[in-house]
Amino acid sequence: MKDKKEKIASIVQPLLAWYGENKRDLPWRGTADPYQVWVSEIMLQQTRVAAVMPYYRRWMDELPTVEALAAVEESRLMKLWQGLGYYSRARNLQRAAQVIVNELDSCFPDTYEGLLRLPGVGDYTAGAIASIAFGQPVPAVDGNVLRVAARAANMDGDIMDPKVRRTFREVMESAMPPRHPGAFNQALMDLGATVCLPNGAPLCGQCPLVGLCEANRLGLQAVLPVRRKKTARRTEEMTVFLLLREGRIALRRRPDQGLLAGLWEFPHVPGKLGESAAAQALSAWGLTPMDWRRKLDAKHIFTHVEWHMTGYLLTAGGADGGFTWADRAELEELAVPSAFAKYLEEARLALEGRRGT
Ligand code: ADE
Repeated sequence: MKDKKEKIASIVQPLLAWYGENKRDLPWRGTADPYQVWVSEIMLQQTRVAAVMPYYRRWMDELPTVEALAAVEESRLMKLWQGLGYYSRARNLQRAAQVIVNELDSCFPDTYEGLLRLPGVGDYTAGAIASIAFGQPVPAVDGNVLRVAARAANMDGDIMDPKVRRTFREVMESAMPPRHPGAFNQALMDLGATVCLPNGAPLCGQCPLVGLCEANRLGLQAVLPVRRKKTARRTEEMTVFLLLREGRIALRRRPDQGLLAGLWEFPHVPGKLGESAAAQALSAWGLTPMDWRRKLDAKHIFTHVEWHMTGYLLTAGGADGGFTWADRAELEELAVPSAFAKYLEEARLALEGRRGT
């Protein structure tokens, strides 16, 4: 560990000098306003700099202060975020803004620990804001930083392992330059994004650390950082039913725990069933298929699972199956996740009589 810390300490000055000459001109740089730094860091979570820039500019035009964010209508907030993904980030930004305005007298928390208490702010983001906006010597260890550190100091632990991450954090913390912590963190980010590129393709010829880098000396650029293989996503086959009866369609609420908890869905059963097996599945609910209208397939990819869906649109007689039977208007009141988007659209058309009801 001592040798790793010494190696990382030795990169600080050349990296800061490089950053002074080569830093990217980004709209949130050149300010230490914690509101602007915070919004930029939240937008940059899991999102590339180029994608963030137009969103950041629009946001600051419309919501230039934490008070403006705390007060903005949710529909407007969602519109400003539309297309960036991971919408809980926008909701958390607003919740945190309301905490700051209502409970902290509009004063931004100015410590790493205080920042960590804000909704949506984790270890990395708290470190970035504390160092950039408040000049505190706290590391901000994201994927770029892990890569630069792993290569520079030949740190070969699995970066998916939380224990290993803590080691990286400790090594980075020991090297933080007290007078330039924000510049050092951002220099690491920029070097990782523009020179110390992933997938074994770094531009070592352009790197200010080339003479110090252990991976370069040992030819380990393609091996470092070490990342355990992601477990493959599993596939689930399922058969989805769009069951029509007297201008209504059957839905059910998902369990309170687990994937898509509490949201509404069309009834489905495991497996990819043909019509006769599907009819048997319906009879288990006491339903009788009357008129098979359409078959439509869809796919949805979650982080850990992929749904491969076969769907049937049909009218069904018999018992009500214990389902909620929604008419066209009621359907819009229910939160149906986008995994079922294709079926939801089909259900709307059917209830509007545009699928031959
Ligand atoms: N990625 C996350 N935060 C960043 C920042 N402040 N500058 C550049 N890239 C980043």
